Amino acid sequence: MFIWYDILFAINTVSKSLQSNDMCIDDATDQLNGLLCFFEEYRENGFEKALDYAKELALEMNVKPEFREKRIIQRSRRYDENVANETIKTPIQLFKTDYFLYIVDKAITSLKKRAMGLKSTGRKWLTEGYKKVVGGLVNRKQQRFGVLEGHPVGQDHAQAAAESHQTLKDNIKTLKKEFKIYRWNPDHPSQKPFLQSYFLDLTTCGPMVLDALQKIKSEDDSTLSYRRSCREGICGSCAMNIDGTNTVACLKPIDTDTSKATYITPLPHMYVIKDLVVDLTNFYHQYKSIEPWLKTKKPPPDGREYRQTPTQRKKLDGLYECILCACCSTSCPSYWWNPEEFDGPAALLHAHRWISDSRDDYTEERLEALTENDKRLYRCRIIKNCTATCPKSLNPALAIRQMEAMKSGNRFSASIAETKI
Ligand code: SF4
Ligand code: FES
Repeated sequence: MFIWYDILFAINTVSKSLQSNDMCIDDATDQLNGLLCFFEEYRENGFEKALDYAKELALEMNVKPEFREKRIIQRSRRYDENVANETIKTPIQLFKTDYFLYIVDKAITSLKKRAMGLKSTGRKWLTEGYKKVVGGLVNRKQQRFGVLEGHPVGQDHAQAAAESHQTLKDNIKTLKKEFKIYRWNPDHPSQKPFLQSYFLDLTTCGPMVLDALQKIKSEDDSTLSYRRSCREGICGSCAMNIDGTNTVACLKPIDTDTSKATYITPLPHMYVIKDLVVDLTNFYHQYKSIEPWLKTKKPPPDGREYRQTPTQRKKLDGLYECILCACCSTSCPSYWWNPEEFDGPAALLHAHRWISDSRDDYTEERLEALTENDKRLYRCRIIKNCTATCPKSLNPALAIRQMEAMKSGNRFSASIAETKI
């Protein structure tokens, strides 16, 4: 507090002396100049040097050296105690020193102008500076900070810090995002499913919905269940319904609009095992039913491997990329109503993948099997939810149309289907 009190004391004294005409302008300028040098010395070279300077100054100004030294040492002890008790911070102190240097410097400039007969605002600077420091900045509504009692600018800074901290907290609050997640526990079968809210600070969360789920599970609620594995859109495990759309959580960015919640529910029209985990037994059974492997009638010509031309291989693009996430099948109303009879878009896309493979010798048999009844393939009503929702941007609806056209033997229809869908 040494610097602070000295500055206040000095400015107050000079200001009052000027106001009561007890001090002439030249003396005030000298005093303030001395003050300025003292604080500059303190800022540049530290307390010890400033102390030496103060002693010299005291001698020059005919102040009793013992008295001046005693007072300086008293204040220096109090300053050291405050630093030790961390009731003041040195950087803040230096900032205040800068502030006062500015005020004092302004005052000196003005006083000099006045001494030269120019329009001066020196007294105004001193009185206003003092008022500003002592009272003007202190709002009566402000909090009082006990450790800063008698230290108005310190209280003002503490108030500003508290306010900015509150602003920061408010900003963070606006980055809190609500996630409403479907919960159901088979251990409590009588309890109905419900949506549970979780609030996440988006500043400390990864960008994808799967990151949010991971954060909730690791920090908030370890009982939350969902599937995930690769976290990069390869395994298809994390498929779920997010804000009304089936997708894989690891490829779905979090909607950062914090004014509304993100709803996360299981894939629709599926039996729920727990929370976001659905039973995919029927889905995998249908996948298995299309015999998703290469079937040949003769060994490879070179006795080693079945070869394809680049053009033949290219026909598999848009088919082989399917990750079996089930987003398409579970978004399809035809699949909802006929989940056991209709194979669904995912299985049918894979069927088309093997039918389109130049190395496969069972194209006719595969088509025959799919059309043995009017449900496995023909239940598709071209609603195209499958294509709209696929997180890998595949087009199961087109695959189904092409297989229907192939079955009818209408190659023209197949190419039309390709251009239309
Ligand atoms: Fe998933 Fe798309 Fe494959 Fe359907 S077609 S299972 S939505 S990747
Ligand atoms: Fe594998 Fe999302 S975790 S697709």
